[in-house]
Amino acid sequence: MKIAASILNAQNKIECIKKLNETTVDYIHIDTMDGQFVPNKTLPIDEVNELGTITKKPFDIHLMVENPIPYINKLTVSNVNCITVHIEIKEDIDKIITLIKKRNCLVGLAINPNTNISSLNSYLDKIDKIIVMSVNPGYGGQKFINTITKKIKNIRKLTKKIIIEVDGGINNKTIKNINNTADIAVVGSYIINYDNYQEAIDSLQ
Ligand code: DX5
Ligand code: ZN
Repeated sequence: MKIAASILNAQNKIECIKKLNETTVDYIHIDTMDGQFVPNKTLPIDEVNELGTITKKPFDIHLMVENPIPYINKLTVSNVNCITVHIEIKEDIDKIITLIKKRNCLVGLAINPNTNISSLNSYLDKIDKIIVMSVNPGYGGQKFINTITKKIKNIRKLTKKIIIEVDGGINNKTIKNINNTADIAVVGSYIINYDNYQEAIDSLQ
């Protein structure tokens, strides 16, 4: 399983990314929130762009915002692996998928714990990744919702070719719930709370 390190809960994000540069972590997961789609507001795109200059690790961008288009248009990071928006937003998702594809990166849709997986149906042949939220989005350091394990299995039944990423509350124990079904685990506070990030990353395998 590949690991995407979320820097959301890091006090000093520059130092955190510098430390991650020295590890084997596969992606840096960036959470951007608008204070509307979720109550929290953090990591403005200007800051994301600056952080993009201090690492060669690919960015995995998770937009928890009602209107992603201005955020996507402001993004200048060169090494973006994937941009993900939420299926629950009221904007025209097809238009956003087209905009993301123009950047030659992967396109993802994220789904909240209480959203039915049938909402993904009409997009399955247009996207590369599904981020299955295993906490209610907004904050790092929350507890993994165990019932999500079943939901991930059901999503895997819908499609074999889409990358499944799981986000929220993952540590060396909860990762066991998703080992056989998911492709990427987003891990934030579990890594950041360790002095030695590599030790934390190794303990997830
Ligand atoms: C939650 C974010 C997650 C979060 C993961 O809204 O999307 O990426 O930062 O952090 P942990 O691993 O602490 O749950
Ligand atoms: Zn996230």
